[in-house]
Amino acid sequence: MNKIAVFTSGGDAPGMNACIRAVVRAAIHYGIEVMGIRRGYKGMINDDFIPMAATSVSYILHKGGTILGSARSDEFRTPEGRKKAYDNLKKHGIDGIVAIGGDGTFTGANIFMQEYPDIAIVGTPGTIDNDLYGTDFTIGYDTAINTAMEAIDKIKDTADAHDRLFFVEVMGRDVGFIAARSGIAAGAKAILIPESKTDIDDLVLQLLNNAAKKKLSNIVVVAEGDDEGGAMEIAQKVKQRTNLFDIRVTVLGHMQRGGSPTCMDRVLASRVGVAAVQALKDGKKGIMLGQLHREVSEIPFEKAIKHHKKMSTALEELSKIIAY
Ligand code: F6P
Repeated sequence: MNKIAVFTSGGDAPGMNACIRAVVRAAIHYGIEVMGIRRGYKGMINDDFIPMAATSVSYILHKGGTILGSARSDEFRTPEGRKKAYDNLKKHGIDGIVAIGGDGTFTGANIFMQEYPDIAIVGTPGTIDNDLYGTDFTIGYDTAINTAMEAIDKIKDTADAHDRLFFVEVMGRDVGFIAARSGIAAGAKAILIPESKTDIDDLVLQLLNNAAKKKLSNIVVVAEGDDEGGAMEIAQKVKQRTNLFDIRVTVLGHMQRGGSPTCMDRVLASRVGVAAVQALKDGKKGIMLGQLHREVSEIPFEKAIKHHKKMSTALEELSKIIAY
């Protein structure tokens, strides 16, 4: 392996910069030339490549977002788009790639490698959603849950002052990992996630039981992909059943994607970034480097994206036991 490239793709996540830095510094450490590709697959198609030196990644470890930019590319879904990308990679003499991203990123990488097996791609898990199989946590998840928790803490103050019921929506189109952990950490009364069926009548009953105990102020955390809808819709459904509560809705949105990464995210990103370069150097491809039970893990892309990680039922049970 003489020359590699690194890119970030899909939804950005805090810690992506720490991962870019680790990839660049590890490549240089092993005597491998390294380039950055700006805006993911889009930049690969549009020939947006930049040389990277050790100093190109100085002072980015603590920054959110990604210095390489990110995108979701429709053109890369077409054979013509992938051909353009391949030609550009060849032009720059690149034989290995580290892709930092999630589901969509690794799906694209797999298709590309079937068509162009002479380019080796490995990945690192970059998404706040934590929905990749084969890694305990993804880069950005820890920062996102801390951001959500701090926001809910603040909402709790005002909810309590006015005896209000708040529905707080957090990110998670297909999974409830952010909702589950931030909800437990911030003491939510209920946590509604896509993985389990939401029963509005049952929720109203719980809230009325609380009201009977003179507790009108409550927080319900809703994952954006819940089967009964987002926080706004669920609040409406509750209002249709009872007018006892003074209800407010807060959608946290993209603030969960930004901000300085936590220590956990920086260390995870650094670790898997180095492991990705080592994997390429050892002739490996088609795998995601994650972290399982405190050790670096290697998971085929196919497994990482298809066997969607399951939410621990223990977390759901726990939140029900301690909520009041
Ligand atoms: O994949 C991360 C994520 O933040 C999801 O939780 C969310 O549903 C989605 O991206 C939003 O994506 P965007 O606004 O970038 O299209």
